[in-house]
Amino acid sequence: MRIPFFAGNWKMNNTKNAAVNLVSELRDKLKGLRSQYAVCVPFTDIEAVQRAAEGSRIGIGAQNIAWADKGAFTGEISAAMLAELGVGYVIIGHSERRQYFGETDRTVAMRTQQALKNNFVPIVCIGETEAERMAAKTDAVNERQLRSGLEGITADEAKRLIIAYEPVWAIGTGKTATKEDANDAIAFIRKVFAGMFGADAASMVRILYGGSMNAKNSGELMSMPEIDGGLIGSASLSADDFFAIVNSGEQKFV
Ligand code: PGA
Repeated sequence: MRIPFFAGNWKMNNTKNAAVNLVSELRDKLKGLRSQYAVCVPFTDIEAVQRAAEGSRIGIGAQNIAWADKGAFTGEISAAMLAELGVGYVIIGHSERRQYFGETDRTVAMRTQQALKNNFVPIVCIGETEAERMAAKTDAVNERQLRSGLEGITADEAKRLIIAYEPVWAIGTGKTATKEDANDAIAFIRKVFAGMFGADAASMVRILYGGSMNAKNSGELMSMPEIDGGLIGSASLSADDFFAIVNSGEQKFV
């Protein structure tokens, strides 16, 4: 069985005090749940959030990582900087990075390699736009982003990855993929993954759904066999909602 995993993607929300308050609420609520979970917070919140989460099972994630070790990369944050703050997870290739900040499949691969080399768990995001879905290109786009985004990675490293399938048209829009569509897309991604890294790695890799996942729809999404958890944006900013979503993973344990 794959242990469900849920990551809150806070995006550019919550200054330090708000971040500490939210994590303090979360640590009590999430305590009894068996899934794994993390909050992926703005760089400037990491240190305070880490302290507030100490002794709990809340993992700490960043929302990006530089591909280089150090040097002249204005505005970037290195693996060593994140490691010193106790970061365990890094979101890579989120569609907002691709859309607004020039992230490409190539830079996704470079960042993913760097994250793995430095023992982080990369949460690699892929997913089609609305136009691509309309043109029946969903599987082709996911395959391309997966193959090029994971270039240069070994089968052993692949076992440590988390993939997030996030249809771009569902992110922040209130539109969710149907549970069947999400399950089908993820099943296809797992098949491609198996072709790249072997059946063993494919049976272990956790593939999350992301895109307007919330307290209302998480139960049915998590009832699908291929969906191993969620990458949650706006609903992760509420402790009650994030708890309800993580709680929906409990059904996988029976
Ligand atoms: P959303 O964001 O839940 O607000 O749609 C998901 C994401 O971007 O990871």
